Amino acid sequence: MKQKIQQIKEQFNEEISKISDLVKLAELEIRYLGRKAGELTQILRGLKTVPADQKKEIGQLANQLKQEMVEKIETAKKVIKGQAISSDWLDVTLPGVQWPQGHLHLVTQAISEITEIFEHVGFVRRRYPEVEWDFYAFESLNMPPDHPARDEWETFFIDPKPVGPKGQRVLTPHTSSGQVREMERKHLPIRMINISKCYRRQIDVSHAPMFHQFEGLLIDKDVTIAHLKGTLDYFAKQFFGPDRKARIRPFHFQFTEPSFEVDVSCGLCGGKGCKMCKAGWLELGGAGMVHPNVLKAGGIDPKKYSGFAFGWGVERTYMMKAGLSIPDIRMLYQSDLRFLNQF
Ligand code: FA5
Repeated sequence: MKQKIQQIKEQFNEEISKISDLVKLAELEIRYLGRKAGELTQILRGLKTVPADQKKEIGQLANQLKQEMVEKIETAKKVIKGQAISSDWLDVTLPGVQWPQGHLHLVTQAISEITEIFEHVGFVRRRYPEVEWDFYAFESLNMPPDHPARDEWETFFIDPKPVGPKGQRVLTPHTSSGQVREMERKHLPIRMINISKCYRRQIDVSHAPMFHQFEGLLIDKDVTIAHLKGTLDYFAKQFFGPDRKARIRPFHFQFTEPSFEVDVSCGLCGGKGCKMCKAGWLELGGAGMVHPNVLKAGGIDPKKYSGFAFGWGVERTYMMKAGLSIPDIRMLYQSDLRFLNQF
C-alpha cells in the first residue's frame, strides 16, 4: 500500500507539472481526488481493510498526500489564471523580447570586406558567369586547346565537345575568365575586382569543389611590377593588419609574364617561422603582369597598354586571417551552427 501511495504521488507530480490550462487541471483533480473513482480516494476508502498495525502510518501518508494534492491544484489554478490575465495586459515598462539574430555567412562577410578594401583604391566590383566558355576560361588566356597547363584547373565540363566558336561550356575554374570579358567592354583604363564562384574537381582540407576567388585586373598606360607590389602590400595591411606585408616569388602562369606566387607574412610568428607557415610566410595566390597575348585577345594594344592581375581564394585568404580556428575549408560549407555561431 505504501508503495502504491508513493507511485500515485510521483505520477501526480509529473502530470501536474505539464498542465497549462484549467480544463486539464479539472480532469486531473477528478482522476486523483474524484469522489467516486479518484485514485487516491479509493486508497482512502480501502484503509478499512489495512491491518491494524499499519493503519495509522498508511492513513497518515494517504491524508498527507491528499492535502498536498489539494494545495498543488489550488496553486496551479492561480498560476494559470494569472497567466491568462497578464496576457491581456501590455506592460510597456517591461524590457522587449530579444529575438535571436543571425549574421551573414563568413564567406559573404569576407567578400564584403575584400570588396571595400579594393573599392577604396578605385577598383570596381564585377561578377562574371559561373558557366563559362572555354574561350574565356582558357583559350583567350594563352592556353590553346590541348595545352597541358589546362590540367591544373581540374575542370568540370558541361559539354563533352565544342558547341560553337567559343568551344565547350565549363564551370569556371577561376576568376581569370573575367579578364578578357572585362577587356571586351572597352572601358579603359580597367580597375576590376571580380569576385565569383569557381569550381574544380578537388576536395580535401584545403580544397573545396566550389569556392570563391577574387581577381584584380588593372590595365592602363605604363603599369609596372612596382604598382602590383604596392597593391599587394596595401591589401595585406588592410585585410590582415598593419604589421603584415606581402612578397612575390617567381612562378609560371600562361596568362601573365612575368608571373608570381604571392605570400603574406605570418601573423602568428611575425615572420620567424612556425607550424602555421612556411618559414614565416603564408601562400596567398597567383599574380603577374598581363601577358601581351591576353591583351590582344581582349582587343587591347600591348604596345600602348600594360597591366597586372592577381587571383586568390576568398576562403583560404579568410582562413589565414582566422588562423587555427578554421582547420578545414569544408567547415565553411557544412552549415553547422555550432561552428558558424562562433564568428
Ligand atoms: C589561379 O586560379 C590563377 N587564375 C590565379 C591568377 C590570377 C594568377 C591572375 C595570375 C594572375 P591557382 O590555381 O593557384 O591560380 O588558384 C589561386 C588560388 O585559388 C589558390 O591560391 C587558392 O587560394 C584558391 N583555390 C584554388 N583551388 C581551390 C579550391 N579547390 N578550393 C579552395 N580554394 C582554391
